[in-house]
Amino acid sequence: MNLILMGLPGAGKGTQAEKIVEKYQIPHISTGDMFRSAIKGGTELGKKAKSFMDQGELVPDEVTIGIVKERLQKPDCEKGFLLDGFPRTIAQAEALENLLTELNSPLDYVIHVNVPEEKLVDRLTGRRVCPECGATYHVIYNPPKVEGKCDHDGATLIQRKDDQAETVSKRLEVNVAQQQPLLDFYQDKNYLVTVNGDQDINDVFVAIDEKLQTLK
Ligand code: AP5
Ligand code: ZN
Repeated sequence: MNLILMGLPGAGKGTQAEKIVEKYQIPHISTGDMFRSAIKGGTELGKKAKSFMDQGELVPDEVTIGIVKERLQKPDCEKGFLLDGFPRTIAQAEALENLLTELNSPLDYVIHVNVPEEKLVDRLTGRRVCPECGATYHVIYNPPKVEGKCDHDGATLIQRKDDQAETVSKRLEVNVAQQQPLLDFYQDKNYLVTVNGDQDINDVFVAIDEKLQTLK
């Protein structure tokens, strides 16, 4: 099962990705997570990505395309993959298409988690993440069992640097501009499935899963 999860920042891609990969046992490939772990590890990639991310801008295409190409050629992707947050530009989408043709591994669906823009600021500023396992929570919409602590490992939850209010508005502006051409690109190729992301987290998953069942 070869999937792309699309949506504006805060639409719930990471939240739904956790559920999809748990059920279907495919690797979760999040470019945002890859960049964050490179920054944490102090690698060259992290140094390249940090200033763009901190300002809410996109990391340049050549850097982003390079890491995804490398990742998709790992053996665990032979059983499928879930791309989260990639592609985000037409150049990235075209590079991906060429790679998947080369690998003879076509896409099944591009799932667009659709949430009205005005709901997203609240979701992003209230998000808390686990620095150990990457699990995502929300102070109101998806609180952990014990306040401020991860349900899985008890680690103290933190706020992502780019979830501070000033950066959030920049991220939304950048991504709104990029998203429509990509939706059109995948609509034209008949891959696009739009799911209402403005409902309970489990209901969003049910809507996505109904589509995925058709692939079995
Ligand atoms: P990335 O990490 O991909 O961030 P993003 O796209 O901004 O998306 P988010 O992770 O913020 O949101 P999400 O949709 O995963 O929402 P979540 O499930 O957490 O990218 C970060 C940066 O990296 C970019 O700005 C860029 O610089 C760089 N980058 C990454 N990919 C790139 C690329 N391809 N090209 C160039 N640069 C790239 O949910 C959000 C909150 O809402 C959570 O608190 C959650 O609990 C809550 N929530 C989720 N679902 C619901 C619901 N149904 N109801 C109520 N609350 C909900
Ligand atoms: Zn954790």
